[in-house]
Amino acid sequence: LAQHFVAEQAPAPQLDTHATSLSVKGYNVAVLGAAGGIGQPLSLLLKLSPQVRELRLYDVANTAGVAADLSHIATAPRITSHSGADALPGALYGADLVVIPAGVPRKPGMTRDDLFNINAGIVRTLCEGVARFCPSAWVAVISNPVNSTVPIAAEVLRRAGTFNPSKLFGVTTLDVVRANTFVAEALGLDPAAVNVPVIGGHAGVTILPVLSAATPRLTVPEQQARALMARIQDAGTEVVKAKAGAGSATLSMAYAAARFAEACLRAMSGEPGVVECAYVASSVVKDLPFFASQLRLGPAGIAEFLPLPRLNALEQDNFEGMKEELVSSIAKGVGFMNGND
Ligand code: NAD
Ligand code: LMR
Repeated sequence: LAQHFVAEQAPAPQLDTHATSLSVKGYNVAVLGAAGGIGQPLSLLLKLSPQVRELRLYDVANTAGVAADLSHIATAPRITSHSGADALPGALYGADLVVIPAGVPRKPGMTRDDLFNINAGIVRTLCEGVARFCPSAWVAVISNPVNSTVPIAAEVLRRAGTFNPSKLFGVTTLDVVRANTFVAEALGLDPAAVNVPVIGGHAGVTILPVLSAATPRLTVPEQQARALMARIQDAGTEVVKAKAGAGSATLSMAYAAARFAEACLRAMSGEPGVVECAYVASSVVKDLPFFASQLRLGPAGIAEFLPLPRLNALEQDNFEGMKEELVSSIAKGVGFMNGND
């Protein structure tokens, strides 16, 4: 029987000669962890994207079934399947964008940092592959704890001599999506009409939704603002509890990651005015070398760091309160790499 998708590719050459500007319409996107709870619905959404030319699905197991299934959908992106560590080069070679949802999720009672021991090594290995096989690709890290895995990714790429800080992103879009949803509920609006910048990082108090900078303007009593902020910061835990041991957010995360991936691909193709929040190498805040804030994306990655929105007293308090945790999460990521010299 003819296969409708391409299973496994031969190991690729080690040099990435593939520039981000393609003459053929669409981009090559690799999803690492594609058979997982996020990976599957994310790959489905990317299969629907007019921006995608080829979708490379990589996982350590169960990849072929997901690829066969998705390959029957009558949309243009071509699906390729890459299963097991030996298949990583084929997934990455020529990729324009690499999205990484590989790793273990939380169970009730765990913090994101409790995932560090397993996920740090996974992200390191995958980024070593990125450095080797698609050094000019944009990289979007979903694997938790994002506050530490992004510094790990940066360090891997830096050591390989391929780190471009304009192209490495920790995906915090789900925080923005949640903030937009909860604020829209409070205002009785369509969430699509709401935009709340979320700055800081992606864990508990480091998630700082700047409600005072929401559009349209949110005028609620301070107590309600506090409650909204707390719900946005705890929303991941809300899902972990509701799933009762079956994992963390997957469907809303897939939606958020697809939105972020689409934004990257639109910016890559030269569309002006693409702005998203993401956790990146940054000098926006003194002593926080990684920080999430609003970014304007362009064809070469981050084109501009938008100025931080003005914070009200409640937000400023939260901002001061997050610094220590963010500093220590960043140091933990860098320390992991140093311990593995
Ligand atoms: P999952 O367990 O359902 O799926 C993870 C997938 O990763 C599995 O298919 C597994 O086989 C694969 N995997 C494991 N090791 C791998 C490796 N070395 N290479 C490639 N693939 C590998 O988990 P999930 O629910 O999809 O969550 C994945 C990660 O995303 C977790 O760390 C979770 O905490 C995180 N997450 C982040 C956000 C965010 O906002 N950034 C939101 C939700 C979840
Ligand atoms: C989320 O915000 O949903 C993710 O970071 C997953 C989690 O563990 O909460």
